[in-house]
Amino acid sequence: MPQIIHEQPEHAEQIEPLLDRCFGPDRFKKTAYKVRENTTPLPELSFVTVEGDKLLATIRYWPIVIGNVTPALLLGPIAVEPDLQGKGIGVGLMRETLKVAKELGHHLIVLVGDPEYYSQFGFENAADHGFKMPGPVDERRLLVKECKPGALDNVSGLITGKPFELAPSGRVATEVETEEVIAELAAFAPPADA
Ligand SMILES: CC(C)(COP(=O)(O)OP(=O)(O)OC[C@H]1O[C@@H](n2cnc3c(N)ncnc32)[C@H](O)[C@@H]1OP(=O)(O)O)[C@@H](O)C(=O)NCCC(=O)NCCS
Repeated sequence: MPQIIHEQPEHAEQIEPLLDRCFGPDRFKKTAYKVRENTTPLPELSFVTVEGDKLLATIRYWPIVIGNVTPALLLGPIAVEPDLQGKGIGVGLMRETLKVAKELGHHLIVLVGDPEYYSQFGFENAADHGFKMPGPVDERRLLVKECKPGALDNVSGLITGKPFELAPSGRVATEVETEEVIAELAAFAPPADA
């Protein structure tokens, strides 16, 4: 019976080949990869579907900023083992992880994908809202979902990866800066079941 669980370090060796099988070696040239360059996926929102030791699917979410001010998530990639596609694994992974993202308080989720598939989860066109990617993208496939009603109001602009901010080097961090870093690390801590 397939199970959805948090991604663990040992899953990495199965995830990369799965992504190669689903998207091919040119996947790194996609604009979505450019957005992800300076950031890392959120551990609390990185999930895999497994059956025993076998990895069947992966999904990750990345912290981004829209128009320099609005925090959001970039969903992707999601990939299901090619032999097992069309059996509901993708829908299950989407539904469960979108629920967790909402519970964690995220308001907006962006992705690049087929609207015919993602509209069932509440995704709509993001280019219509003035969202832009930092490189070429088929605007029809740039999608966004509100996890909280009104979250899209007055939000538009360039989508950028949100880098983990470090205090400038060469001096001791102030007490306030230290507390901010500790709070940020606490927000990144995986839930107890991870
Ligand atoms: C897209 C993907 C994640 C969907 O997962 P899945 O487990 O195959 O899909 P599910 O079984 O949950 O859902 C299947 C349904 O979605 C439809 N569907 C799947 N991919 C679709 C697409 N790209 N566009 C439109 N509909 C699609 C199927 O036709 C099927 O419809 P039906 O139930 O009416 O027959 C998976 O097919 C995959 O990994 N594809 C290759 C990688 C990819 O394209 N990832 C998404 C890019 S971000």
